[in-house]
Amino acid sequence: MDDRAARLERAEDAIHEVLDITAATTEELSKMTAASEETLEKLGADFLRVTEEVREILFDYAGQANLQQKYKIDVHGARKAARVAAEQLEILQALHPDAIPSADPEPNPNPIPGRSAMETPSGRDLPDFAVTAGGDGDKAHENVDPNNDGIAVDDDSRVEFLGRTLSFQGGSTKCARKCVALLGRDEALRESLAGQRVLEVGSGTGVVGTALALAGAVVDLTDQAYVVELLEHNVRENLGAVASNAKCFELVWGADAELPASNGGEPYRAIFAADLVYAKEAHLPLLEVFRKLGTPETDVYLAYIHRFPWEKRFFDLMATLYDRELLAYDDGIWLYRFRPRADAIFGNGDIDDLIEAAGVSREV
Ligand SMILES: C[S@@+](CC[C@H](N)C(=O)[O-])C[C@H]1O[C@@H](n2cnc3c(N)ncnc32)[C@H](O)[C@@H]1O
Repeated sequence: MDDRAARLERAEDAIHEVLDITAATTEELSKMTAASEETLEKLGADFLRVTEEVREILFDYAGQANLQQKYKIDVHGARKAARVAAEQLEILQALHPDAIPSADPEPNPNPIPGRSAMETPSGRDLPDFAVTAGGDGDKAHENVDPNNDGIAVDDDSRVEFLGRTLSFQGGSTKCARKCVALLGRDEALRESLAGQRVLEVGSGTGVVGTALALAGAVVDLTDQAYVVELLEHNVRENLGAVASNAKCFELVWGADAELPASNGGEPYRAIFAADLVYAKEAHLPLLEVFRKLGTPETDVYLAYIHRFPWEKRFFDLMATLYDRELLAYDDGIWLYRFRPRADAIFGNGDIDDLIEAAGVSREV
């Protein structure tokens, strides 16, 4: 069994574990004997461990409906289970505030109070890194027909851009849609990228890269090998078989990241990254790929949704190479442009230097 299939199998097992824990918790709460406290503590700890695992695997699925189809994973059911379990956690936390690590008592769902979603705030800093228990995060992939083997079926597969309706098998994330919305309304941004070479990392179903190509950029859309087929399909469907300004490649993040020599090796004017900061393990490889394939003239555009408090570490690392500018905050999505700092060095380098400069730990 390959690694991917093993992970998918583990996801299914973990989902069942979550359901079992939830059922056991409910039963324990209903009888509440003297021994319940200890049992609930144990269930709470198990819950935290397993849901975190399920969540990470599920985020890794995002944009990969072809895999859901292939392995018949019921993502809808899994998310529902995680939500039910999150509700149970709140009950447990209320009962045992000391035993179970608590979420921020007042999560901050809208870090820019008083602003309408589409306004571009100025001088804003990072979101308040509060954590929301069970974090509702990006609901883009909840549009799933439970009677249809967990395949995304409706409007998150369609994205409007410059008067066209684009269609993406596998759906789209909210980050990607808000990034496309920014491109649609910001003519100056489109003009700055038209004719320029642009790299998208972690393209998923290809929403952002496709819009960039329609805006006239010369785009390399990239992802892990097993996603490239879906990516190519969507690019072909939306841009036509002969689109000369959109190519799809495998590109795995990290210091070893390499594009095929046939790609020409010309530097990129911009790198786009939508909804990629959700896994702790990705922080260093993402920074490495930006440094390796970027130059002092390569801006990084990041569409970001806040899910976990430790995501701040990624921004601390980015600050060692870039100055950050908030372009827009749109309904929970932060759209940033990172401009290379004058003292930043690109190309190959030692990641330990950046870790030290950022003052963060190697492990999260
Ligand atoms: C949440 S999806 C976002 C997809 C797309 N950017 C969007 O917003 O619709 C994350 C994507 O990152 C890709 N990814 C995760 N780890 C990666 C890695 N180490 N190297 C390359 N791509 C990776 C996944 O395959 C997935 O397509």
